[in-house]
Amino acid sequence: MSDRRKFLKQLGGTVVLSSAALSSFAAMEDHERRILQAPKRISSNDKIRIATIGMGIMGNNDTRAALSCPGVELVGCCDLYQGRLQHAKEVFGANIFTTSDYREILDRKDIDAVIVATSDNWHSTIAIEAMHKGKAVYSEKPMVHYISEGLNEIKAQQETKAIFQVGSQRVSSLAFLKAKELYQAGAIGQINSVEASFNRQDALGAWQYTIPLDASPQTVNWDRFQAMEKTKLPYESNRFFRWRNYREYGTGVAGDLFVHLLSGIHFITDSKGPDKIYSIGGTYYWKDGRNVPDVMTAVIEYPNTKEHPAFQVALRVNFISGEGERSSTKIIGSEGVIDLDDDQGFTIHKNKMAAAPGIGGWDSLGTFTEAMQKQLLDNYNTKYSDADKQRPVLPGVTYQSPAGYNSSNDHFANFMDSIRNGKPVVEDAVFGFRAAAPCLACNDSYFQNKVIHWDPENMRLI
Ligand SMILES: NC(=O)c1ccc[n+]([C@@H]2O[C@H](COP(=O)([O-])OP(=O)(O)OC[C@H]3O[C@@H](n4cnc5c(N)ncnc54)[C@H](O)[C@@H]3O)[C@@H](O)[C@H]2O)c1
Repeated sequence: MSDRRKFLKQLGGTVVLSSAALSSFAAMEDHERRILQAPKRISSNDKIRIATIGMGIMGNNDTRAALSCPGVELVGCCDLYQGRLQHAKEVFGANIFTTSDYREILDRKDIDAVIVATSDNWHSTIAIEAMHKGKAVYSEKPMVHYISEGLNEIKAQQETKAIFQVGSQRVSSLAFLKAKELYQAGAIGQINSVEASFNRQDALGAWQYTIPLDASPQTVNWDRFQAMEKTKLPYESNRFFRWRNYREYGTGVAGDLFVHLLSGIHFITDSKGPDKIYSIGGTYYWKDGRNVPDVMTAVIEYPNTKEHPAFQVALRVNFISGEGERSSTKIIGSEGVIDLDDDQGFTIHKNKMAAAPGIGGWDSLGTFTEAMQKQLLDNYNTKYSDADKQRPVLPGVTYQSPAGYNSSNDHFANFMDSIRNGKPVVEDAVFGFRAAAPCLACNDSYFQNKVIHWDPENMRLI
């Protein structure tokens, strides 16, 4: 009996309700299989021992999401600020191993997988070393800090055959799975454009995160943090705790947030990426010493491929938006729009043209002689039936993930499934790089004031 049928049998009527909410069959099966697996006893051989490198905001979230999967145990944590290592012991247990040197994590034989949740500047270096040390790797997005790092990381994965998954949780989200299924079934006709954005209007949203009172070169391993920089700078708390505001360590709003938007778009459309990228930006409001824009707009062109027709994408991040906090991805086709609200739900509005082109109203008809108008109307009415003249009325679709749903938990569940069962990862290095590179190209376009040409198939700048 399949897991799904067993589940239905065991839980009887209640599942019908949750199945109705999870009307995506594939997603529903996966979700239910995990519920079934959860109570299963995991033998010590099945246990996955993990460590997190970078115990800041996302490192803590990712660790919790990883531990929500059955049979996962946290062995160690690495961070460059002592207070975060102490906090890790407070939260995850005094016995966990802590260090500020990630190599001590990679050298341990009792660690199967690492989460790389450092600032962007360290993702690729640590991920590559970890794969060579035989670890499975969950790398936060964007996969790389610079486009030049991408192919090396893909090569390292291919050579080591490591389980490697990038951390854009939209790729595992029920809402995106369902939207993909409907998109692929033709719900909006032929795609022609996408408008996607993140709007924010507060200091934390604009990356002015809280700095601890004991921040200093004594509590922060500043030399390690900037080890890869050609120009070494004296310690600065802002640069360490608010690294996103500096290109040297972060990737600006494009690498940080556009990458979520493109990951979602690529996932739904099966796209390999755009070939033309242009972006403008400016630091309009948060003039706090940052060297990246707080408002950025990109226009990106996707070529006609076997996966999809040509389409255009307009991306925007606005950190001082009077709209308040809102993120959306509108995928626009010839017969409808999928409007995704972050990764929790979406609405599809369908609009189809009438078979008849229309005549009169805002038209040149009324400017012609009465005789000509009559003749044109007679011809039109002979050619088109009343039905042809009506716009078809098509029902829309609204989907909302179950209350409390967390796509990161599912993204980690997928990662753990790959480690345990050898199932291909849901977001591999090629996908991760194909999403990250055009976003990093948005930065190149802005800083170099030029159009960037990209070969999405071979993943190279042209
Ligand atoms: N998937 C998502 O939705 C999502 C959300 C937020 C952040 N992120 C990603 O997670 C990463 C971390 O972001 P954050 O907000 O947690 O930042 P953060 O500043 O809160 O934490 C980053 C931590 O990494 C540590 N670190 C930096 N270099 C290190 C090194 N070489 N060795 C060990 N530790 C090191 C720092 O000490 C810091 O504590 C970023 O790449 C970001 O893009 C992803």
